[in-house]
Amino acid sequence: MKKIILFIVLTLVVIIGVIIIYIYSGSYNVGQLGHHNAMARWALTNAKQESINKRLKGIKVPQMNDSAMFVMGFQHYNEMCSTCHGGPGVDPDELSKGLYPRPPKFYKSKDMPGPSEAFWIIKNGITMTAMPAFGPTHNDQKIWAITDFLLNKMNKMSPEEYQSWKNKYSKPDDPSN
Ligand code: HEC
Repeated sequence: MKKIILFIVLTLVVIIGVIIIYIYSGSYNVGQLGHHNAMARWALTNAKQESINKRLKGIKVPQMNDSAMFVMGFQHYNEMCSTCHGGPGVDPDELSKGLYPRPPKFYKSKDMPGPSEAFWIIKNGITMTAMPAFGPTHNDQKIWAITDFLLNKMNKMSPEEYQSWKNKYSKPDDPSN
């Protein structure tokens, strides 16, 4: 029994030692161009999905497809999100091409999150990616308006319609955002 415990302790010490040597060796590439290897990708993707799923309970989805909220949602989306995610007829900015993981393009995408997941992500952001948290600067009503526009309006707009909304509504009325 003592031998087994000694073996386990020594194994743990060796593993921790190897991890510490790896960290201090500088081998890990923290640059945006050094993409995750398969193991890191697996760990991060699963940790992200499970973490988000666990935090969705208790989020009450308000009435969606609420056309009264679309303009407000559009104004915030156009101002703060299209830089990275693009929109109808709008390519993401250059800065988004240097990001890893790449921000998904939402226009005409079939792989969209559900409303509570989108709301949670917009409010909280995603750590270790470029997805910012908008909760510190936007109340829940605004975040739901963005969510509703993103999930229920944007994909139905043509590039021309999106452009005409830009001409009409470009700046959010509320200076505090
Ligand atoms: C600086 C770039 C950047 C900005 C600005 C940004 N995002 Fe993101 N967003 C990202 C990245 C990168 C990801 C992918 C993260 C990942 O792969 O885990 C992401 C992921 C998301 C997701 C999850 C997509 C999915 O398929 O699960 C949603 C929803 C989202 N963003 C919405 C928004 C909205 C709405 C805004 C504006 C209020 C916004 N983002 C602004 C970079 C950005």
